[in-house]
Amino acid sequence: MSLHIGSIAPDFEQDSTHGRIRFHDWLGSSWGVLFSHPKDFTPVCTTELGRVANLKDEFAKRNVKVLAVSVDDVESHKKWIGDIEETQRAKLEYPILADSDRKIAKLYDMIHPEANDTLTVRSVFFIDPNKKIRALITYPASTGRNFQEILRVIDSLKLTDEHKVATPADWKHGDDVVIVPALQDPEEIKRRFPKGYRTERPYLRLTPDPSK
Ligand code: BEZ
Repeated sequence: MSLHIGSIAPDFEQDSTHGRIRFHDWLGSSWGVLFSHPKDFTPVCTTELGRVANLKDEFAKRNVKVLAVSVDDVESHKKWIGDIEETQRAKLEYPILADSDRKIAKLYDMIHPEANDTLTVRSVFFIDPNKKIRALITYPASTGRNFQEILRVIDSLKLTDEHKVATPADWKHGDDVVIVPALQDPEEIKRRFPKGYRTERPYLRLTPDPSK
């Protein structure tokens, strides 16, 4: 099954470093970030898992639960966590799924055979409180992810859900945003964007972040 933006994130049950996880129940009404790692005891993954642990408050502030997947077992994950905490000066408090049977890797198409037959690529699934996949990114094993970008995508998804705006190139929380082209009613524009807006082109109208 290929997963797209707008697909319901497939539910599953799997062991983890925090016990058995039933994914949809575990998510509850939170947003979720499900992210895969090629293998335990590998250098880039070690830095990534430490980085996510150190961003705990940033994810919590946004009501996002994070869940890592790696194709090794719980015992291996627990040993690896010791290394991550020591080398990355982090306290790893989120669960790592033990996907030894590749159940989740297959369900979420995280193994790309042209890259590697057995290891997962670096996938990230952004899942909203309705369990819908709202964004996905995929990197090869050799490229560690930028977790500020992952937070930025969440900020954009939440802002654009609440206001009739889209976020431009390199946007970050607090920057000006664009008014969606479909919004043309002058009264509605005035009501939604009381701080005003500037028109660079009829289709390119910028306004201060309406959530501020
Ligand atoms: C890593 O996490 O460092 C890694 C994993 C698999 C292949 C290459 C690098």
